Amino acid sequence: KKIAIAMGGYSSEYRISINSGNMVYKHLDRELYEPYRVHILKGEWFVVADDDTPYPINKSNFTVRIQGEVISFDCVFNTIHGTPGENGLLQAYLELVGIPQTSCDYYQAALTFNKRDLISVLKPYGIKAATNFFLNKEDVINPHEIVEKVGLPCFVKANRAGSSFGITKVKLKEELIPAAKTAFKEDNEAIIESFLDGTEVSVGVVTYKGEVIALPVTEIISENEFFDYEAKYLGKSQEITPARISKEQTKNVQEIAILIYKKLKMRGLTRSEFIFHNGEPHFIEMNTTPGLSKASILPQQAEKAGINLKDLYGSAIEAALQ
Ligand code: DAL
Ligand code: MG
Repeated sequence: KKIAIAMGGYSSEYRISINSGNMVYKHLDRELYEPYRVHILKGEWFVVADDDTPYPINKSNFTVRIQGEVISFDCVFNTIHGTPGENGLLQAYLELVGIPQTSCDYYQAALTFNKRDLISVLKPYGIKAATNFFLNKEDVINPHEIVEKVGLPCFVKANRAGSSFGITKVKLKEELIPAAKTAFKEDNEAIIESFLDGTEVSVGVVTYKGEVIALPVTEIISENEFFDYEAKYLGKSQEITPARISKEQTKNVQEIAILIYKKLKMRGLTRSEFIFHNGEPHFIEMNTTPGLSKASILPQQAEKAGINLKDLYGSAIEAALQ
């Protein structure tokens, strides 16, 4: 089967996505799949051949002509973080042109990429989260009102972004407006959340050989103020799998992550973040096209579970083709 590994994207997470895509390219089982690296960049979409020659994608049907032969793909392996691969745009496009893809459907992607909306949808299931305050870019910011609601310190985040781009930990009221400006560089919506003291964990939930399973839980310890970009990708953090939490806590957070996966009709690979605050898991956010680069958490979790990446990525493709 011909598999287009979609990578790149239009957001600040572009570089990480290329790393994720190249790792998937490396690990796909060549006996079952014929992978192509497809760069989805603003304005230009192209297949990158092994000799690095770019071949443009025909956007009307997602085919490519390589040395006279028109190639259509059986499936897209989606490794784009951020827009357009994690917020539903690519999903909707591929549904329109009739090509299955490995991440969730467009509505689920749009919903899960929106931190505020996802938290409100999960609330009725008893899933706890930080108190939050929502801002549109054009809103007049009243720091007093925000601090009344969420307290200090708090986190100011772009509402729809990943890899911690646009996030600031705010300790003083005066820092709120500059922090909101940072968030608005990534998105025209911001979410301000109360600070939750506690152990941060990351839970991979995947469809593996047709079954929805939770991977071993990873504990995240940042050397910085929080698990920011530098901590995530430049080695300024420790990621410990399995997390040093009790067996009951592990089971509990895995069950919640699986519940979210099933209720939201997820597909393929996902990773959700929680903070154990006062002993209880509080939901932070979910990634429906989680990082798969060498520095990323999900491949480490799979390794700890004894699952090889070839089988994991093959399972994601088979789930998409169902
Ligand atoms: N958003 C990044 C890529 C992650 O979830 O790993
Ligand atoms: Mg994220």
